[in-house]
Amino acid sequence: MSILVNQQQFHLTNGRISYVFHVLKNGQLGHLYFGKALRPDRDYTHFEKDHNPTPASCHTYEDDPAFSLETIRQEYPVYGKGDFREPAILMSQEQKSVANFVYKSHDILEGKPALSGLPATYAASSEAETVLIVLEDVYSGVELHLSYTIFANEAVIARNARVVNKSTTALSVERMMSLSIDLPEAEMDLLHLSGTWSRERHVKTRALEQGIQSISSIRGASSHHHNPFLALKAKDATEHTGEVFGFQFVYSGNFLAQTEVDHYGVARVQLGIHPIGFEWNLAPGEAFQSPEAVMVYSGEGLNGMSQTFHQLYRNHLISEQWKTAERPVLINNWEATYFDFNEEKLIHFAKEAKDLGVELFVLDDGWFGKRNDDRTSLGDWFVDREKLPEGIASLASKVKQAGLKFGLWFEPEMISVDSDLYSEHPEWAVGVPEEHYTLGRNQRVLDYTNPIVVDTIFERMRAIIQATDLDYIKWDMNRNITEAYSAGLDHQGEFFHRYILGVYDLYERLTSEFPNVLFESCAGGGGRFDPALLYYAPQAWASDDTDAVERLKIQYGTSMAYPIYSIGSHVSAVPNHQTLRSTPLSLRADVAYFGTFGYELDPSRLSSEEQEIVKEQIRRYKSFRPLVRDGSFIRLQSPFEGNETAWMIVSSDQKEAIVGWYKASSTPNPRTNQVLKLKGLHHDSAYQVESSTYYGDELMQNGLPLPIEFNGANQAFAERGGDFQSKVFYLKALY
Ligand code: GLA
Repeated sequence: MSILVNQQQFHLTNGRISYVFHVLKNGQLGHLYFGKALRPDRDYTHFEKDHNPTPASCHTYEDDPAFSLETIRQEYPVYGKGDFREPAILMSQEQKSVANFVYKSHDILEGKPALSGLPATYAASSEAETVLIVLEDVYSGVELHLSYTIFANEAVIARNARVVNKSTTALSVERMMSLSIDLPEAEMDLLHLSGTWSRERHVKTRALEQGIQSISSIRGASSHHHNPFLALKAKDATEHTGEVFGFQFVYSGNFLAQTEVDHYGVARVQLGIHPIGFEWNLAPGEAFQSPEAVMVYSGEGLNGMSQTFHQLYRNHLISEQWKTAERPVLINNWEATYFDFNEEKLIHFAKEAKDLGVELFVLDDGWFGKRNDDRTSLGDWFVDREKLPEGIASLASKVKQAGLKFGLWFEPEMISVDSDLYSEHPEWAVGVPEEHYTLGRNQRVLDYTNPIVVDTIFERMRAIIQATDLDYIKWDMNRNITEAYSAGLDHQGEFFHRYILGVYDLYERLTSEFPNVLFESCAGGGGRFDPALLYYAPQAWASDDTDAVERLKIQYGTSMAYPIYSIGSHVSAVPNHQTLRSTPLSLRADVAYFGTFGYELDPSRLSSEEQEIVKEQIRRYKSFRPLVRDGSFIRLQSPFEGNETAWMIVSSDQKEAIVGWYKASSTPNPRTNQVLKLKGLHHDSAYQVESSTYYGDELMQNGLPLPIEFNGANQAFAERGGDFQSKVFYLKALY
């Protein structure tokens, strides 16, 4: 891995990818190349002209009509100097809004500097190299610091930007992207992950067209509706072949991710904080740091892109503490009891779960204040003695005595109007004082821009964690932000970002003081499933929708960008509480195995036969848990394209694999014999699959035989049939 500087050309390469940019003749930064590695010892300045064939209406120099910012590909474009596409930065100062950032200096660093107050990927000095480019606005002296990191082993560039007010007057930043790149070809499809509550991160694909196509959130959270991720896929790219560029924003608040295709078919991709509701003020000497954005290049289709994201997040985002630790099989009481429980019921629940092989008992909502429904008590993080007369510490110790770890649900960012905290501090709720406020799930949002609020919640959570010797926290967040206003802020345009900084501050303090507590993030299911929270919480509750058929889509979509060991996936009771669909216990587990496994049901309602099945499921999951954590996840068949889904995980030494295959509904008179073509195995290894042995090349070229399907005439020997079929195979290399 190296960053090569040749005259004023910067070439970041690691043998897999190259990222090349240079200083243009007007001093701004021009983009030259991002893709498969190029030879290091070349001058690629001609790439500027190769992709800039047409003189445009506005040009910078009288004697050079070809030099037009309207068409030149750039690194961090500004508005007002002849480029009519959307800029990366907009700022104003004493009515002036034109900027012209020109190269001033650069510095090359080993490793990757941390971003103060913001979660970001990290790397040891031998694992990455960073170039910091300092640009200066010729009009004001304001500086822009652009940071580019290349990792030694991943096909990834990480970027961020920082603006430093080196001028003598106040500055207002109205738009600041973390990443901007002009790709030369727009003959691509845009892939993104969209949905809503209970159907998060469905895969959507559409063709790029001239104009802007964007996904975004202005809800105060990264949202159920759009994940801060997009990919551009060559028209001929597939899951396993062809070029794909993946982009992701390491941030949990309002975001904009867009592609603007210009009139010559250049695609400008930008990711950053959404400019709506954003305006940051900088007095002379002050600086604003953008969050990080990462970009991946894959020459091996969507799977190649996903595996790179998985590797990046596993190696450089999830904390050292949790990247290799095994995540416990958990049981959560929410769907089993909702708010209706007492100590006796919980202890009984936990003991039964222990007998099944569960390792962690999680007490969900309703253990604090006087919370018997969702109208009350958020903020009062003190045990409800009516429900738990002996206290939360006593419950925790009994659960631990029963041989389980103990976890609790919190919703730290919220306040109920019916709470002691609200009676004491109504001004701590977000909103314009004395004005109407909008409710969401009967609750209001705490003002996390106020450090005293964060301190208070930290103290309350700390007391509970210490008293219970807590092992796990489910950190929920169940509504979006309205009436964004804090009396403590001089500039309300800073509210949304300062709110998220407050959330990160609380996460940082809790995870530093209690590194052994496992955090699982949650936001009404998967409403804030983003890479920034993975930095603190190595797993996330993927969706409140636990229906196995729906989960195929949710988990398949989530795997586009996130390692499957971060995807909270549980077996719940039927009929399913979100869809009223009844699926077999086998299907529910076969889907949930591909994530951090657990249960969301009352074990005492299982028949003795079902209890035996659950014991076997847990034993099975534990046997391949290291594979779920460390293996390469490969998507084989998409639930968005048909009735069948398939995926697999292969260990890095190719000696082990698990394969999941699913058929959602039955088809009349189907082909009875069917095979599934696998990927990623060793051609010459012989694999034991149940009682058969196959070579890797057979399994990949001819396929793995699936059980015989019922077709009306073969009842005597059919092995599967009907709706909701599934099968998980375990493959072990014999040599
Ligand atoms: C949210 C979560 C659920 C559960 C409830 C509790 O909806 O996503 O898993 O914790 O809150 O109120």
